[in-house]
Amino acid sequence: MAIADVSSRSIAELIDLTGKVAVVTGGAQGLGKAISRRFAEAGASVVIGDINAEGAQATARELAASTGADLRGTSVDVRQTASIDALAQKAVDELGGIDIWVNNAGVYPTTDVLAMTDADWDDVVAINLRGTFTGSRTAARHMVERGQGGVIINLSSIAGFRAFGPGLAHYTATKHAVRGLTMSLAVELGPHGIRALALAPTLIVTEGIAASRADHEDSGLAAAQDALVQQHPLGRLGVPDDVARVALFCASDLSLLMSGSTLLVDAGLMAL
Ligand SMILES: NC(=O)c1ccc[n+]([C@@H]2O[C@H](COP(=O)([O-])OP(=O)(O)OC[C@H]3O[C@@H](n4cnc5c(N)ncnc54)[C@H](O)[C@@H]3O)[C@@H](O)[C@H]2O)c1
Repeated sequence: MAIADVSSRSIAELIDLTGKVAVVTGGAQGLGKAISRRFAEAGASVVIGDINAEGAQATARELAASTGADLRGTSVDVRQTASIDALAQKAVDELGGIDIWVNNAGVYPTTDVLAMTDADWDDVVAINLRGTFTGSRTAARHMVERGQGGVIINLSSIAGFRAFGPGLAHYTATKHAVRGLTMSLAVELGPHGIRALALAPTLIVTEGIAASRADHEDSGLAAAQDALVQQHPLGRLGVPDDVARVALFCASDLSLLMSGSTLLVDAGLMAL
């Protein structure tokens, strides 16, 4: 399936997601909520899946009211393949298919590597990496069956390029792996007209980051994060919408010939 040449289309047409269906995991709050908001503003219908089902539903109601788009919130646990399959089926049954799938759900608990248990490791891998794989596989199966292509967007991190921490060995490993998975998806799914891209944000203050800092007020983590902030060449920390706008670029036809890349959203940090 060849990607169209869209040179003659206007910018407004290229960024328009009207008629598209997007699924965003972990979208009740944080980056997933900001991404859902921009997708909805661009005209997409959005299914927000989150382990916090009430939060997903509340966010869907809030964003539907502010954008006028069709948003639905529902429960998903990305550790469970059956749960991911049910999320995808909801989008297909209620909205007619899946055009855009964002594997955003992720966790970043901190544990010193010497104290890290097998269970600590497996928990983070099950959500951040296996959940990204199973989400991609389920979305791609639906996209291939429908035959209209699609876009899969995965959340990596600057921790997908180098180590950050302390206490994030499992997280850093999963975010490196997400970049490799994204490249593999691009290669294998490209012939079906499916693009795969990853985002690598720097530290963005979300509900999850705020809670993590509060939990680790006395550890070296907050101090390490504060030191990191000072280093950003653009001189400010990111906000969730900084990532959401790049996600919209990836989801839209503006990025039609891009697949396999991981886009840094890092205020220049990784250029240092
Ligand atoms: N915030 C940052 O600084 C930052 C930087 C780089 C990458 N990221 C990545 O961006 C993504 C979102 O991060 P955030 O800061 O917005 O997090 P957050 O904690 O604020 O939100 C994550 C959401 O995922 C949901 N979730 C957790 N486990 C789940 C599961 N098993 N199934 C379904 N949903 C689940 C949570 O309920 C929550 O609503 C993560 O993959 C994270 O690794 C974040």
